[in-house]
Order: sequence, then structure tokens, then C-alpha cells
Amino acid sequence: MEKNIALIPGDGIGPEIVREAVHVLDRVAESFRHTFHYEEVSMGGCAIDRYGSSLPDDMLAKAKAADAVLLGAVGGPKWDHVPKENRPERGLLRLRAGLGLYANIRPARIFPQLAPSSPLRSDIVRQGIDFVIVRELIGGVYFGEHRTEERDGQRVATDVMSYSEEEIRRIARSAFETAQKRSRRLCSVDKANVLDTSRLWRKTVEEVAQDYPDVTLSHMYVDNCAMQIVKNPAQFDVIVTENMFGDILSDEASMITGSIGMIPSASLGNGGRGLYEPIHGSAPDIAGQDKANPIGTILSAAMMLRYSLGMPKEADAVEQAVNTVLEKGCRCADIAAPGEAAISCQRTGALIAQEIKAN
Ligand code: IPM
Ligand code: MG
Repeated sequence: MEKNIALIPGDGIGPEIVREAVHVLDRVAESFRHTFHYEEVSMGGCAIDRYGSSLPDDMLAKAKAADAVLLGAVGGPKWDHVPKENRPERGLLRLRAGLGLYANIRPARIFPQLAPSSPLRSDIVRQGIDFVIVRELIGGVYFGEHRTEERDGQRVATDVMSYSEEEIRRIARSAFETAQKRSRRLCSVDKANVLDTSRLWRKTVEEVAQDYPDVTLSHMYVDNCAMQIVKNPAQFDVIVTENMFGDILSDEASMITGSIGMIPSASLGNGGRGLYEPIHGSAPDIAGQDKANPIGTILSAAMMLRYSLGMPKEADAVEQAVNTVLEKGCRCADIAAPGEAAISCQRTGALIAQEIKAN
């Protein structure tokens, strides 16, 4: 097959980790006889520096023209003082919205080899950690009105959180479908004891549930969910939640698996085109030092092969290669045990690429 992939290296460690994912993809192309054409898209702080915009229109058009988009990370302290309309993160939000990617799939799964890296007690880890957060990605407070004004002699800031039934319905459907492919248990997370958006969320998810009688639906308040994720993560199969709750819970969920550096994500809409990115940030403190963990990006490339490029065997091969490399005891800095020698970002990518096999 022949596929067009848009690459967005972004800022900080972004270019280093995307480079390693491309090495792995090149090996996939070679082993499975595909051709991947890469098109580089400039987004984030680097695009502000070069073009004066965190996502120039022609860059968004390039991303739209591709079969899939693979992203490293954007942002950094250098751009903390640019006006909010043009922060690097705005580029990312425009990209997600511009591609209509409302469903963000973030798996939280512990590799058994990394169990000692989890900050949780070993008896909790032993129960298993293998769930998926389905986060609504282009609605809610992220996309509501934001303003700061002067009122009665002081500044007052307002961020509007709003959800329509249709926005809730479509993400609920994605979540039920995700649950159908797993253990068929869906937990919808909200704050229905306080928020109107959550009350509508709960009611709408209940309605959508009628179409999925094979899935067991439960509801949980977000504060309790934050607690349950560390107390008893084994209870979860699929969690569905709104944009900001999903942002927060997915960082928490990633941490209990050992390191945020390991966790991939897929953002999907109604078409086949998706955006694939590790859930961590641009880590400016270690940028350019060849210390970053590229595995979150490499596993994102695996999700891309599976969900956008129709290559499930190739996706399996990448996941298997990651597994083999961990099995052999190779660890980058974030997952190395104290005192254990860590390998570099490039070395990690090269080792994983070497393990890719078509079978
Ligand atoms: C994420 C990130 C982004 C988000 C930031 C960079 C805007 O934290 O992908 O989780 O909040 O969605
Ligand atoms: Mg986040």
C-alpha cells in the first residue's frame, strides 16, 4: 500500500521522538512492502517563530490532505508570553478542531516489565492496569468563550463550558463501540452533582446506551474517579469523559503505568483520518539531549497503522517490537530503575526498529 503521512515534529523533544517513530515506520514499510510518503507540517512554537502563526492555514491544509497525522509535542517556556490567540497550544486545538477529531483514545496499560516503575503498591499493580480513556476532544471549556475583564475595580476571568446533546452523543457512541471491542464495561465520568453540562452528559449517555445493550454502563463522579484510578485501577475497562476531565484523568492514568512517556493516543473523527500523538508534553528541560523516551510516539504510530492506515498486522508488529525491547531490559531514563543504566532516545528507536518483523 501507498500512504501519505503528515509529520508534525513540533517543539522541545518533539523532533527527536518523531524521528525515531519514522525509523520504525520505515522498517515497517520495508518489511511489509509499503510506501510511506512523509510531508512535514510546521505547528507550535516553531511555526510562530517561522511564520508568525502556531498553525498557518496552508499547514492545516497539508494535514487535511494526508491519510494520517503523526505529532510529537508542542509548546515551551519560550512562547509563554505570546498572546493567547497564538500560543503553540492554540495551534494544536485548531488542528484537532479543524480535522473534526472529537474522540481521543488514550490507553492506560501497564507493561508487566515496567511494573516496578509504577508508583502504586505492587499488590494493586498485580491486579492489572488495562483500560482506555475516551476523552471528548473538541468541545467543553477548551472551546468555550474565554475572557478577562475589569469589573468593580478588579479583573474577572470567565471560561465557558458548554456541550450540546449531539456533541455528547457522538463521543458516547465512540466509547460504546470501544467498549464493545473490549470487556464491554463503560464508565461515564462527570460532575453531575454540580454541573449542568454533566447532567446533560449523563442523560444523553443513558439514552445512547439503549443502542448498546451488550455494554454495561456505570457512572462515576470525576473526583471519585481520580481516587479510584489509584485505589483500584483494575475495575476499569473503558472510561468516557468530557474534554478537561479527560485531560486530567489521562495524565493520572498514565503515571500509574510507570511513565507518561509510554502512552500513545489516537484522535479520531468521522472519517478515517486521525491524529496520533504521545500524551506527554514537549519536555523542554531535556530537549536536544537524546534522553527522551520515544516509545509513546512509536506506539502512537502503531495506533495510526491500525486505525487510519488499515494495517493491523503492522501495528501488532510495532507493539510486539516494543515489548521485545522492554523484555530485553532496555530502558530509557524515565523508565530505568534507580541506578540502572539508561539508553538514549536514538538507541531506543533503533532497537525497536530492528525488532520489526513481518510474519
Ligand atoms: C494533552 C495536552 C493538551 C491538552 C495541551 C498541550 C493543550 O495537555 O494533549 O493532553 O490539554 O489537550
Ligand atoms: Mg494533557
